[in-house]
Amino acid sequence: MNVLQIFNLRPMTGDDLDAVMAIEEASYTTPWKVQHFRDEMAARFSLPFVADEEGHVVGYVCLMSLFEEAQILNVAVSPDQRGRGIARMMLEEAFRQAREKGAEVMALEVRASNHAAISLYTQLGFKRVGVRNGYYDGCEDAILMEKPIKENP
Ligand SMILES: CC(C)(COP(=O)(O)OP(=O)(O)OC[C@H]1O[C@@H](n2cnc3c(N)ncnc32)[C@H](O)[C@@H]1OP(=O)(O)O)[C@@H](O)C(=O)NCCC(=O)NCCS
Repeated sequence: MNVLQIFNLRPMTGDDLDAVMAIEEASYTTPWKVQHFRDEMAARFSLPFVADEEGHVVGYVCLMSLFEEAQILNVAVSPDQRGRGIARMMLEEAFRQAREKGAEVMALEVRASNHAAISLYTQLGFKRVGVRNGYYDGCEDAILMEKPIKENP
């Protein structure tokens, strides 16, 4: 199956927020508040988008692209839709959009215990570039990862 054929990757809108919040709350112990997503939709350098499958939001990415560096601020997939390649597809779209804005590097932070996400990022070519000790709730480290996204660097 080619996932690109059945998913519509499109900008996040206010109508998506109920579905986005349901995924967010099922995905994180300290989920973003809905206002955080509203702020992302309004922010000048932010490009939040969703993966829509036949009218249902199955995942989303909050991407910020500021000059040479872009950042993945949030990525999540509905628990019952995981393992279908949706996150990989969304991140490849994020690389494309960031490149279009002139970014050369994609950066992100991930909890040290989040093996699924670290495996996803590693598979996509991200490398560990640093660590913020005790960044999450004062007790869990954040791993900083980056990937060059410039074409023909
Ligand atoms: C991490 C997350 C976004 C992955 O979404 P997904 O759509 O299931 O991921 P994909 O199907 O695109 O998987 C792509 C690759 O990621 C890795 N991966 C994904 N889930 C994994 C898991 N549970 N265990 C190990 N590796 C995993 C694998 O390398 C996989 O490639 P493969 O299928 O060839 O083995 C999803 O588990 C999620 O929403 N988690 C909660 C939110 C979160 O932790 N976000 C990241 C914050 S930094």
